[in-house]
Amino acid sequence: MNETLIILDFGSQYTQLIGRRVREQKVFSKIFPYNAPRDTIMQENPKGIILSGSPANVYHPKAPLPDPRIFKEGIPILGICYGLQLIAHVFKGKVHRSAKREYGLAQLQVDQSEGLFSGLPRELTCWMSHGDKLDRPPRGFESIAHTDNAPVAALADTKRRIYGVQFHPEVVHTPQGAQILGNFLFQICQFRGDWTPAAFIQETIERIRLRVGDAKVVLGLSGGVDSSVTALLIHKAIGKNLTCIFVDNGLLRLNEAAQVKKMFQDHFKMNLRFVDARRTFLKELRGVVAPEKKRKIIGRVFIEVFEKEAKKLGPVPFLAQGTLYPDVIESVSVYGGPTSTIKSHHNVGGLPSKMKFKLIEPLRELFKDEVRQVGSVLGLSEELMHRHPFPGPGLAVRILGEVTEKRLELLRRADWIVIDEIKQAGHYKEIWQAFAVLLPVKSVGVMGDERTYENVVAVRAVTSQDGMTADWAKLPDDLLGRISNRIINEVRGINRVCYDISSKPPATIEWE
Ligand code: XMP
Repeated sequence: MNETLIILDFGSQYTQLIGRRVREQKVFSKIFPYNAPRDTIMQENPKGIILSGSPANVYHPKAPLPDPRIFKEGIPILGICYGLQLIAHVFKGKVHRSAKREYGLAQLQVDQSEGLFSGLPRELTCWMSHGDKLDRPPRGFESIAHTDNAPVAALADTKRRIYGVQFHPEVVHTPQGAQILGNFLFQICQFRGDWTPAAFIQETIERIRLRVGDAKVVLGLSGGVDSSVTALLIHKAIGKNLTCIFVDNGLLRLNEAAQVKKMFQDHFKMNLRFVDARRTFLKELRGVVAPEKKRKIIGRVFIEVFEKEAKKLGPVPFLAQGTLYPDVIESVSVYGGPTSTIKSHHNVGGLPSKMKFKLIEPLRELFKDEVRQVGSVLGLSEELMHRHPFPGPGLAVRILGEVTEKRLELLRRADWIVIDEIKQAGHYKEIWQAFAVLLPVKSVGVMGDERTYENVVAVRAVTSQDGMTADWAKLPDDLLGRISNRIINEVRGINRVCYDISSKPPATIEWE
């Protein structure tokens, strides 16, 4: 049985990060909206509760407040930032707008070293972000740390095991944050700390079984990390009632479609419907040059093909998607009641609303590296887990100008050489993405004694943390030389190779 920590979300941008920090300490956590009723929370049998931060102010008449009964259950509670002010407010302390706001790094003086600050030095650096403050702890509480600007930077009622910190222990700018959270989890809540990716898998499988029952689930499999891990999890839960649809749009890399088929159909024995839609996509893309138009066409045709295939399965109530936490910008609307506003990007854009599917998104609360850990435990190969991202519109956005079968073939072969050489040189893992781009120009060359007039390929390789910003990779000269030589020698139709040395911004990673 998992031991659970409940995080109540008051709308902080860091709520998911708290969840992640807790998981890093091998404690299972669930995030509930701030106004989850006491009974919903208690059903989870929580060993601890964390109250998140919030953009709100506790003294506002419509301030988001939790069910007050949670403070009477004897469960340890930690309030972070707004969470601390909330505790003060609930216990009749006075929170007011501070004359001096406190943003950024602050020096924290620890006044009581047991419990929350156990094993830590008396002076710590912490990260603050607040405009409200508390001058005195409410009755029953004591101040256990202060800063120059916050006389109560942490408070505790050790009898009732209710704690609060004004700073953010979940961000990396609070260097001892993990230890402070650890003290709450292990010393105060007494968690065992035995939650692992394997436990996540077990728990998720049970949850999927419970929700889906005997119904059918369909999933658009791309062969990337996220959809692959989602497919495996759901397959483990419901076996043949999951059907994966793989659409070969003809815009994939060399051997990609065959590899997906081999792995999921032959190796994992999944119900895989392989749709060869290459001709449909190419036909729709004929004569199209504008990048946005290409993207729109590919998105639309994908939905049409997927829909047609899914309809053949009979009634399917559920659609599974490999949505990760960074794909979902989710915020609780603090003054607007319990509904949360979700701006999410759907992996198979537009499908859910059009086809009235209920969504299953088992990876919604995970970050990419956590998904990779889960994938490894599920038996996905290292190679697949560490694959570079590949855009939905595929090679179409790497062929500048019209997409034709002939140009796709040229690009596929050049692209394969880029990746092969980078892998052989041992640089693949440190690079975010590497690929070839086929340009819409021809250049003059000389091969043997003959003049050539052929295509130009650009090689793109970037380093990045998250794809939002990126720098061009400083690949060794000899590696670039080998890539260029091989492409020109092995791919007939290409006589020149350039290296893209632009960073993002102002360029983007893809060329279209
Ligand atoms: P850009 O080119 O905007 O790309 O710097 C940032 C990251 O996003 C990937 N990308 C996409 N991924 N569907 C996707 O799933 C798309 O339409 C798409 N367009 C770009 C790109 O490969 C890079 O990793």
